[in-house]
Amino acid sequence: MAADTSATNPRKSRVVLGLQWGDEGKGKVIDLLADRCDVVVRCQGGANAGHTVVVGGKKTVLHLLPSGVLHESSRCVIGNGVVIDPLALCHELDDLKAGGCDPVKRLFISDRAHLVLPYHRALDAAAEKAKGDAKVGTTLRGIGPCYGDKVARSGVRCGELRDLAAFEVRLRAHLTQANVLIRAAGGTEVEVERAIAEVMPACRRMAPMIADTASILHQASAQRLSFLFEGAQGVMLDIDYGTYPFVTSSNTGIGGVITGSGLSHKDLGEVIGVVKAYSTRVGGGPFPVELLGAKGDEVRKRGSEFGATTGRPRRCGWLDLVAVRFACRLNGVDSIALTKLDILTGEPEVPVCVAYEIDGVRVDTIPSRLEDLSRAKPIYERLPGWTQQLSGSTFDGLPAGARAYIGFIEERVGVPVRWIGTGPGRDEIVVR
Ligand code: IMP
Repeated sequence: MAADTSATNPRKSRVVLGLQWGDEGKGKVIDLLADRCDVVVRCQGGANAGHTVVVGGKKTVLHLLPSGVLHESSRCVIGNGVVIDPLALCHELDDLKAGGCDPVKRLFISDRAHLVLPYHRALDAAAEKAKGDAKVGTTLRGIGPCYGDKVARSGVRCGELRDLAAFEVRLRAHLTQANVLIRAAGGTEVEVERAIAEVMPACRRMAPMIADTASILHQASAQRLSFLFEGAQGVMLDIDYGTYPFVTSSNTGIGGVITGSGLSHKDLGEVIGVVKAYSTRVGGGPFPVELLGAKGDEVRKRGSEFGATTGRPRRCGWLDLVAVRFACRLNGVDSIALTKLDILTGEPEVPVCVAYEIDGVRVDTIPSRLEDLSRAKPIYERLPGWTQQLSGSTFDGLPAGARAYIGFIEERVGVPVRWIGTGPGRDEIVVR
């Protein structure tokens, strides 16, 4: 890879992580930074993610592809920690092509990344159905079963697409075996030959993009190229530190960036944590700050809080600084990008959760036991609101209430807020 020296902005490596329950607005921050780096890297997750970018009024939602695809000069890597559904990948490439963007020549997919195959989706659905009311509320994209196969050492990796004939034989065997499990779980079996006929053309298309991305990234590092590591989901959905078992199946923090790319901590650069000015989560699981009733509906409507991947309404609540503080500490966050601050405009006062109360005791961290977190009541401090629109403002021009809100977060979390989202457009962001 040759260094791109055309940009005037300082080129340094950055990691962008979501610090809440996903949907923090990472896509916009990544899009803003993508033309200041040479290589954009996805490290974990899969087509469960949905990164929305609005360019020139046109909305693009990316699921598997790194947001760098929208920048002609960025090379894009899908690292070994990502789980890749060939059909979802090809749909996304087709959508982009229809909009005039064809990133295939600058897209590299790890030969060590695992494939999400039709039986993973069927197993995901069957597992959710079997759980009944206790279901996780997954995106049904087959993510959990695919990571499960990886850890159980029975997965299928992208490198196998180098020999498509042998891959097809293996796929047939996997589908047949998986149907036994799907049947036992009360799910809908996959029609083997139909699934093969559907998946093989996508695999054939994917094959030329498969590469030893770890070596490519090592070379890029030796050439002092800059990286942008694009996190998916959020720290509160992390398989280890999130609200287990209501989590996704990968490490969504800094650890996942390293194991999922093949680079080391020395290559990471600045760690930027993306925090939405309020909280949302999709699916089941404890959510102490949740606003039920009319207020929750109002915030959802104002913030257009409907899933980018599934269209599901997101649960909404006030900002939870217990979660944000925990996420910053876990990931060595250097700076915060605060998104969607404009959605709070017009609130007479803005409550912020600074601690929890569990059985009459004040708690400042996230308890690991679901039973404890489910009983946690938020302790709020109430800040004055503002009515002035934020879009187009400089930092100093922001209303006093908005500046006080930002200052409060910085003081309570101990991390500077360097970006402030003031509207959906690419340019509606204040950079400090
Ligand atoms: P899975 O990742 O599809 O297995 O879903 C597990 C949990 O993570 C569910 O609660 C999903 O709603 C949530 N989840 C997965 N990906 C995202 C995302 O990109 N944004 C928000 N929530 C997500």
